[in-house]
Amino acid sequence: MSLMVVSVVCVGFFLVQRACPYTGGQDKTSLSAQPNTLVPQGGHVTLRCHYRRGFNNFTNFTLYKDDRSHVPVFHSRIFQQSFLMGPVTPADAGTYRCRGSYPHSPTEWSALSDPLEIMVTGVHRKPSLLALPGPLVKSGETVTLQCSSDTVFGHFFLHSEVNFEEPLHLVGELHGGGSQANYSINSTTSDLAGTYRCYGSVTHSPYVLSAPSDTLDIVITGKYEKPSLSAQPGPTVQAGENVILSCSSRCSFDMYHLSREGEARELSLSAVPSVNGTFQADFPLGPATHGGTYRCFGSFRTAPYKWSDPSDPLPVSVTGNPSRSRPSPTEPSSKTGIPRHLHVLIGTSVVMILFTIFFFLLHRWCSNKKNAAVMDQEPAGDRTVNREDSDEPDPQEVTYAQLDHRVLTQGKITRPSQRPKTPPTDTSVYTELPNAEPRSKVVFYP
Ligand SMILES: *[C@@H]1O[C@H](CO)[C@@H](O)[C@H](O)[C@H]1NC(C)=O
Ligand SMILES: *[C@@H]1O[C@H](CO)[C@@H](O)[C@H](O)[C@H]1NC(C)=O
Ligand SMILES: *[C@@H]1O[C@H](CO)[C@@H](O)[C@H](O)[C@H]1NC(C)=O
Ligand SMILES: *[C@@H]1O[C@H](CO)[C@@H](O)[C@H](O)[C@H]1NC(C)=O
Ligand SMILES: *[C@@H]1O[C@H](CO)[C@@H](O)[C@H](O)[C@H]1NC(C)=O
Repeated sequence: MSLMVVSVVCVGFFLVQRACPYTGGQDKTSLSAQPNTLVPQGGHVTLRCHYRRGFNNFTNFTLYKDDRSHVPVFHSRIFQQSFLMGPVTPADAGTYRCRGSYPHSPTEWSALSDPLEIMVTGVHRKPSLLALPGPLVKSGETVTLQCSSDTVFGHFFLHSEVNFEEPLHLVGELHGGGSQANYSINSTTSDLAGTYRCYGSVTHSPYVLSAPSDTLDIVITGKYEKPSLSAQPGPTVQAGENVILSCSSRCSFDMYHLSREGEARELSLSAVPSVNGTFQADFPLGPATHGGTYRCFGSFRTAPYKWSDPSDPLPVSVTGNPSRSRPSPTEPSSKTGIPRHLHVLIGTSVVMILFTIFFFLLHRWCSNKKNAAVMDQEPAGDRTVNREDSDEPDPQEVTYAQLDHRVLTQGKITRPSQRPKTPPTDTSVYTELPNAEPRSKVVFYP
């Protein structure tokens, strides 16, 4: 009976507490972590308990962990101002709440704060983070951030200091032998530009995280009008010649970014105002070795991850230096498969031409043996004598020599004309890239 009374009183107290919390809406209790709720294993984190929406600290507060909100953690310790936790271990990962005592009535304790997840990082191997189709996202398009690992992670957390206050939880799915999670963001509806990392954790301890993935910078393009891109001395340069790409615009961009098709990283340079009212950056590419298709973008200092539309693509091609690229005996001709293929073709042609000449000459020699009288142009007197004399082959040898010379000359004329003028040109390969615009070409020089 008395037990029942106690129960009713407890339930009643609980209901009253729920209906009339100690703190009004204004005095909401909250727990904060500095510098971050993601704490590297062995690192430190400072916890503070706040009231009045985080504007004031509780001088004295207690902490609760996970679902044991009736048992203060750390032996009923009362913390003053702040609690420096660390060096943290995986056992410290979890959900924390706090209660503070008000300065005006130290015996009165605040309501329990909202939960705060403290995550300990660096316990598992880092996953990899990828943007699909790529990290430069045209304004209005959607990008998928894909976090994947060869470890089976039940949870992934996507972190971006700019865009989410707390790491965004994603459910890990089995993929191949490991796991993966996709997060798609529409760039029209959310401000997604910034630096991202992701972490993974196993199902039974969600807040014990892997090391962070490598960072991924998501840039939104198409925010401002396109700059123009030009090459000095021109879009076609000799190998070894210095190339400078200039990006300029009438917009007062602070920075320019130069991207080369097929390369992940962009070069960035500050813009310099010119006397004619344009803002320009000159990218020195150094001595040209291989060509490529370039684009540039402009941006402002206040929004480093928001770029202009890309400039028109600029294909830069490099022509070889004939003196340098003459094949040398020490240099193997097998730098790429294609020149070797050409050499085989040329070699075969030469052998076939020589065989043709040989058979032609053999045929001519046999015919001459039979029709020597008809073919002979020498004065008749001497010839009759000489013709009967089979030991006198001189006139025939002259004919052979002339014939031989004529065929070889023809060969010498025709073969080089089928070949390109300079050796490096025949080793250039023009490759159409899958994502490239029709006129964009990348030139490789072995
Ligand atoms: C909380 O107290 C600390 C001193 O312990 C102070 O540096 C900090 O600014 C205070 N924060 C807020 C939000 O009042
Ligand atoms: C905080 O707690 C200490 C005892 O641990 C007490 O002496 C002090 O008065 C309290 N301060 C406030 C502002 O509640
Ligand atoms: C993530 O997206 C990629 C590309 O759309 C797809 O191949 C992959 O299966 C997706 N993974 C998951 C776990 O949904
Ligand atoms: C992105 O959001 C905008 C505005 O809500 C919408 O018009 C557009 O269709 C969305 N794009 C995609 C790919 O979902
Ligand atoms: C402006 O001046 C820079 C050099 O200061 C030059 O490279 C650029 O071509 C000029 N642009 C125009 C539009 O005249």
